[in-house]
Amino acid sequence: MSTIDYSEKIPNNVNLGEDRALKRALEQWQPGYLQWWQEMGPVETTDAQVYLRTAVSVDPQGWAQFGHVKMSDYRWGIFLNPAQEGRKIHFGDHLGEDVWQDVPGEHRANLRRIIVTQGDTEPASVEQQRHLGQTAPSQYDLRNLFQVNVEEGRHLWAMVYLLHKHFGRDGREEGEALLQRRSGETDNPRILQAFNEPTPDWLSFFMFTYFTDRDGKFQLCALAESSFEPLARTTKFMLTEEAHHMFVGESGVARVIQRTCQLMNELKTDDPARLRAAGVIDLPTLQRYLNFHFSVTIDLFGADQSSNAAIFYSSGLKGRYEEGRRVDDHLLKGQTYKVLAVDGTQLVEREVPMLNALNEVLRDDYIRDSVAGVERWNRVIAKAGLPHRLTVPHKAFHRNIGTLAGVKVSPDGLVLTATEWQARADEWLPSAADRAFVASLMGRVVEPGHFAHWIAPPAIGINRQPVDFEYVRFA
Ligand SMILES: [Fe+2]
Ligand SMILES: [Fe+2]
Repeated sequence: MSTIDYSEKIPNNVNLGEDRALKRALEQWQPGYLQWWQEMGPVETTDAQVYLRTAVSVDPQGWAQFGHVKMSDYRWGIFLNPAQEGRKIHFGDHLGEDVWQDVPGEHRANLRRIIVTQGDTEPASVEQQRHLGQTAPSQYDLRNLFQVNVEEGRHLWAMVYLLHKHFGRDGREEGEALLQRRSGETDNPRILQAFNEPTPDWLSFFMFTYFTDRDGKFQLCALAESSFEPLARTTKFMLTEEAHHMFVGESGVARVIQRTCQLMNELKTDDPARLRAAGVIDLPTLQRYLNFHFSVTIDLFGADQSSNAAIFYSSGLKGRYEEGRRVDDHLLKGQTYKVLAVDGTQLVEREVPMLNALNEVLRDDYIRDSVAGVERWNRVIAKAGLPHRLTVPHKAFHRNIGTLAGVKVSPDGLVLTATEWQARADEWLPSAADRAFVASLMGRVVEPGHFAHWIAPPAIGINRQPVDFEYVRFA
């Protein structure tokens, strides 16, 4: 069950061969997917041989096989974690009942919506990142970018498999639509706003993989609790891949910080102009990028009060982060949770029914996890002997969804007038000049073991290979 057969047209561990109608439907979707990858996947990569990890089983140990793969020969497949015998629904109104192997009719529309929304983010990030290979700061980084890209492509496969297998004709139509929408396009954009923002440079890429792929982790964790067993099993396997994406982001930003601190010490300055002249990204600019990516990403959790969130939970479709580890009644009726609101010129906390506030609960779990990594970045600065610190902005800063949408709040949580906000927005969010400066640093570095000036090399290579390993063989 757990070994994946790569001789199949669509590698899988779901016995696809035994369901001929499903196999045929997915084989009909496959050419459209490959065409999408050609059009919207990483540019100019067809002939590159990249040191990628490929899933060969879903066993916790040893699912990954490393080797050089020609990008055009990469094989996407369908992998689910093994079923857990006798798994029971462990939250909501169906608590204690058997999990569902098929979609119950009454939850069909909501489950489809959940799967489509998750599925849509996967190709979107590939589209957002498609030009980054042309300005990769090293072979090591280029390889990591491609690894993230092929796995996001596989995550799309994972969601399309569920749509095809469990949602009939509607599911097949959604599968087609997932290949039609385009990140940032006005007519037919991706569903969620953070996935329509451009990822124009590598600082944005690292911030995106740190913050936005972490949103992916939290959404997938909540779906891994689902009573719909196939969704739980597929998201569990996706999570093992997601960990690497967040590593790319966290270590990428850490290496940028390390290089900047090195120059701050050498030049004995924290003057952004002097540091920019020396070709590194000053910490205030890094802070503004952080502010942007953090605030755009926490919007992804949705409105702070949502009747849909309550329905998704009570009907057992989507749990909380680490639902199984929590010690409460897993029903949450009559319980409350604090959300933020604006009262005149002040932010105030309001108690609301917890079931309606489950988006906020997940957002708060996410924020705790994000802050921990920012503290690890601060250790890099501290280790360099410098007093500067990066901070996560206030939850109400630069929000566009829910009660706080459009409210002007400073990064430290003060409610501002529109004029006050306008006067200082460039201190808090990347300005056009910041973005132009960061763009000016981007240039492709292709010799093994060489790194762009603005970023430090990693401490160790991928799969214990040396840092100067030939991670990408160009044709
Ligand atoms: Fe993903
Ligand atoms: Fe990801």
